[in-house]
Amino acid sequence: MSDLTTTGHELTSDGWTRAYTGSVMDTFGPPQRILVRGDGCEVWDADGNRYLDLLAGIAVNALGHAHPTLTAAISAQLGTLGHVSNFFGTPAQITLAERLLQLAQAPAGSRVFFANSGTEANEAAFKMTRRTGRTRVLALEGGFHGRTMGALALTAKAAYREPFEPLPGGVEHLPFGDTAALEEAFSADAVAARGEVAGLVVEPVQGEAGVRELPAGYLPLARRLTSDAGALLVLDEVQTGVGRTGEWFAHQHTDLGGGIVPDVVTLAKGLGGGFPVGAVIAYGEGPAALLGRGQHGTTFGGNPVAAAAALATLGVLDRDRLLANATEVGETLRRAVAGQDNPLVAGVRGRGLLLAVELTRPVAADVARLALDAGFIVNPVAPDAVRLAPPLILTAEQALEFAAFLADVTVPEPEKS
Ligand SMILES: Cc1ncc(COP(=O)(O)O)c(C=O)c1O
Repeated sequence: MSDLTTTGHELTSDGWTRAYTGSVMDTFGPPQRILVRGDGCEVWDADGNRYLDLLAGIAVNALGHAHPTLTAAISAQLGTLGHVSNFFGTPAQITLAERLLQLAQAPAGSRVFFANSGTEANEAAFKMTRRTGRTRVLALEGGFHGRTMGALALTAKAAYREPFEPLPGGVEHLPFGDTAALEEAFSADAVAARGEVAGLVVEPVQGEAGVRELPAGYLPLARRLTSDAGALLVLDEVQTGVGRTGEWFAHQHTDLGGGIVPDVVTLAKGLGGGFPVGAVIAYGEGPAALLGRGQHGTTFGGNPVAAAAALATLGVLDRDRLLANATEVGETLRRAVAGQDNPLVAGVRGRGLLLAVELTRPVAADVARLALDAGFIVNPVAPDAVRLAPPLILTAEQALEFAAFLADVTVPEPEKS
């Protein structure tokens, strides 16, 4: 790295960590390690220790680290035209919009809005629901949609919401996966009491809630009820989209989505392979026209470098059959874990390479810490579940390395007083 991009510190991990806590706002707690380099599915810390990255920046680095095609695409675009305002279009932006519409199998009249992150994509979707002329929006308990005020209003967790209330109003959180509650929310009584529904916002597989998949039949019912009510069905595929679950979008699994066509899909995370980019896909002319000229915008969204990164990511996912790889390697891991007799491990849930190892005790934080010490980056997404969202280039051998660690991991029982 050149002197222009570093402070000149020549520090170990401990030194960097002290420097971090003295300079970076404490919204995340102290960093677990200071990472300095990555290659494929591996990263190295400032002390030279190697880790197998089974989290990929939380479902972001779809192509792993320092992928040559992605690196070349970003460099080439930056060296040609790095940024223009949204008064102008660029070939990269337009090509990416077309490619997303194609992968989404979106009908004629569909359109894309570009953002920079998941929360921003969801802000746009939230604003689209307001443009129906209604304000009652349904979301699910356990749902996570981001931290900006609108996305936070859609997010269920009280600890995230309460310090920032009042949030934009009109959002109701329904019990997760409960079809009776969903039907009730659209009933004549509910409409009379609380108004017509503007939209329903759901993740096909809840990521932050611990990799929880909606039950089969839920999305088709949601589609029927929203269509009948003239409400928008918004699928938050920020975490599940772009091949993570083995299809381009999770709702495209027929057993999960039942072949539905949503009104809006939001994307981010894996889309740029590590470069920040978000997108909103509006399906069909009606949804595509909800945000008119001047009603939404962003300086960076649709930036040509971000668009080039996304195009390169999508291209490599396609060329290297990485959706199939996600399915196959996910299955390998699932089978390897199922064949173990570690009393701490109950099983694996999730799809493709968005998985959670279910534990028999609420010791996920201990398991994640032991994993890190053993050279594996994972995430304790729930007290009794460890999330894996590795690069989609993960090999079966790498998955089995982690399975071997899991087979032997032990966390002592607390002493009984
Ligand atoms: C389903 C979902 N939606 C939205 C977000 C927010 O995305 P971002 O952190 O890019 O704002 C996340 C992030 O974890 C997510 O998992």
